[in-house]
Amino acid sequence: MPALLEMQEFYAGYGPIEVLKGISIEVRPGEIVALIGANGAGKTSTLMGISGCLRPRRGRVLWESQEIQQLPAHEIVRRGICHSPEGRKIFPRLTVLENLQMGAFSRRDRAGIERDLVHAFELFPILAERRTQAGGTLSGGEQQMLSVARALMGRPKLLLLDEPSLGLAPMIVVKIFDVVRKLNQEGMAILLVEQAARMALKLAHRGYVMEIGQITMVDKAAALLTDKRVQDAYLGE
Ligand SMILES: Nc1ncnc2c1ncn2[C@@H]1O[C@H](COP(=O)(O)OP(=O)(O)O)[C@@H](O)[C@H]1O
Ligand SMILES: [Mg+2]
Repeated sequence: MPALLEMQEFYAGYGPIEVLKGISIEVRPGEIVALIGANGAGKTSTLMGISGCLRPRRGRVLWESQEIQQLPAHEIVRRGICHSPEGRKIFPRLTVLENLQMGAFSRRDRAGIERDLVHAFELFPILAERRTQAGGTLSGGEQQMLSVARALMGRPKLLLLDEPSLGLAPMIVVKIFDVVRKLNQEGMAILLVEQAARMALKLAHRGYVMEIGQITMVDKAAALLTDKRVQDAYLGE
């Protein structure tokens, strides 16, 4: 099957500093792909490169075989790539409901938005209970759920998740990973950046290992889990 997303030889950075040095990643329809690597490797920058928040110096991003690396971020959302960014980045003064509505900003299909809102509340019932509460007053776990749910309101074909487990209690992490699995079973492709490498690789079909701006390994997730180098460097064995 042709890839849904192909990042090809992508170079990008901040000012004079190059942090992505020829990244090539693909996500196929129906896949969960994990991107793991140490702090500062460039995982967040990679997701930003896909969602149009970081422009390449060289290289391309193909989405459904069309180049998107020069499109504005909102157009990339409209085409079906939605991003739950590192640090959640919810709107603290807006209510839960308003945060979710912001996630649907690129859409005009009112009935569809309403349906997706119901679906988001089914996935995360706590958000339904908190719908009139300001985002900033939610717990860390609830804010993470809101960040994922807001991304879902863009109706993604590909969901980019940046460190959804960061700083959360294990029980909440399990809940969020369960939702990721469920979304994938419904057909959504997912590119998951995680420090919790073992959990991410257990959930994913394939994985990439990133080191200082380059992809150093790519394989089936199960193979990475049993790889000695991956175990030593990322799985604490
Ligand atoms: N806005 C920025 N300005 C300058 N350097 C940045 C910026 N964001 C990230 N970096 C640098 O780029 C490198 C990769 O960062 P990042 O993509 O956040 O990695 P990761 O998500 O893997 O921790 C790091 O060295 C980081 O310090
Ligand atoms: Mg990061």
